[in-house]
Amino acid sequence: MRADNSRTSEAGAGWTCGSPGTFEELVPARVPPFSWRRPSVLWRSRNDVLARLFGDPSNAIRRRCVAALRERGTPAAFTVHRSAPEFSFMLLGDTGEGDRSQYAVVPPLLNAAAGTDFMVIASDVIYPAGDAADYPDKFFRPYGGYPGPIYAIPGNHDWYDGLRGFLRVFCDLDADYAPPPWRGPLGIVPRLLWRRPGEVDQKVLDEARARYRGAPGQRSVQPGPYWAIDTPSLRIVGVDTGITGTLDREQGAWLREVSAGPKPKMLITGKPIHVDDTCRPGRIEGGGTVDAIVRDPAHNYVLAVGGDIHNYQRYPVRLDDGRTIQYLVAGGSGAFMHATHIIPRTSAVEEDAFRCYPLRGDSLSRYSRLYGRWLRMPGLFELTPQEATAAVRHRLGIRPGRGYDATEPSFRARFVAAVLGVPRGRRARPRFLRLPVRRLPQRFRSELADWDEPPFFKSFLRVDVTEDELRVRCHAATGCGDHEADPPVEDGVTIALRHRGP
Ligand SMILES: [Fe+2]
Repeated sequence: MRADNSRTSEAGAGWTCGSPGTFEELVPARVPPFSWRRPSVLWRSRNDVLARLFGDPSNAIRRRCVAALRERGTPAAFTVHRSAPEFSFMLLGDTGEGDRSQYAVVPPLLNAAAGTDFMVIASDVIYPAGDAADYPDKFFRPYGGYPGPIYAIPGNHDWYDGLRGFLRVFCDLDADYAPPPWRGPLGIVPRLLWRRPGEVDQKVLDEARARYRGAPGQRSVQPGPYWAIDTPSLRIVGVDTGITGTLDREQGAWLREVSAGPKPKMLITGKPIHVDDTCRPGRIEGGGTVDAIVRDPAHNYVLAVGGDIHNYQRYPVRLDDGRTIQYLVAGGSGAFMHATHIIPRTSAVEEDAFRCYPLRGDSLSRYSRLYGRWLRMPGLFELTPQEATAAVRHRLGIRPGRGYDATEPSFRARFVAAVLGVPRGRRARPRFLRLPVRRLPQRFRSELADWDEPPFFKSFLRVDVTEDELRVRCHAATGCGDHEADPPVEDGVTIALRHRGP
């Protein structure tokens, strides 16, 4: 395993590439470059805005899907049983734009995945709106080389299609359920504007499956949009957080049931619980939160991983009872990158215990180049990784993530860091004083921050489980050819699995 990564050198981060990535050969020639700048792409995602303004219909639609799955005989536990106590799997999040930034992940992924048993995609399998028609180029084709089955939990973008494409591909269910009628005089707005699911061309899906993922070992049908994978050493629990992050009452009851007992557990969710140094516990309809279930000592969760935010973050949170739960964000496996430089000096855990990828300095340097280009002021905005790292260190009061000299940042670098949202210490900068990088209009602005050349700063996880321990490694996908065979390891943690109650 290689020793260099983004923490050791600029070359390790992919700022300088020794050779171009071979992934170029995988990108389908006829697919137009995916761009969030296209109004049609944003329009197809409009259900997000409607759900937030007028009410999220995901819970009601999910209830009907789950009822249909049960009716056809799916056991209520929604559980896949695997008998081997020792196994490995790959975990990706927010993959499916179908462009170069997704395909750049494929060669390093396949190399790092040697010997693994299955793969999981956590959140946003297909952008922009989960359409079945997008599965051939954004799912079957890129992962055709992975020999094992792939399970998934949907993200908000998969729900913009009413989950129809997702259920068709992963659960072998064709479900086209209309959202429940919105009430009140304003209900006419979402009723008129709600985007109905795209058509499913079963023949096209069958052909894509047969061509790319048709081997017997690649085929799988998962129990539902939420599921558990039960093994003798670990239970992996995947929840479906819909568009706005709430679990329906029935899924909440299921989650409590599969979480019971002392067997060690790992949660995979469409919305991370700890992210950007804030805790979002995840509401359950009828009361309670996902995080309360994860923290309950009787349930023995050791790890909770969420997609949705497109980078890597790890918070080893120590609870009052002395246990530590690792909370990870792992949504950086293909789509545009969310900035990490807006993360304050952490308070949820000690800054020294916090890990993120890309490093905040690299994130700021990347965004400074984008803003320099957009505003046609590269001379003012563009910061080298070293200049950006110095500015981040200055504003946050943290140690630099790479072995640069501790030089003072220039006034220009401090200005750029301030307007691009680097907080001061633990305090987020007032919104009106900075250019948009993350929040509103993050939906548009950060998603416009999609680039198609290295370093991509993509990442994916490999999880290795034995009877006694679980090891997670975060690999980088930079897009450089010299990083494909043996992708850099940006972070790793080993967790002891204790098969006993509290
Ligand atoms: Fe996403």
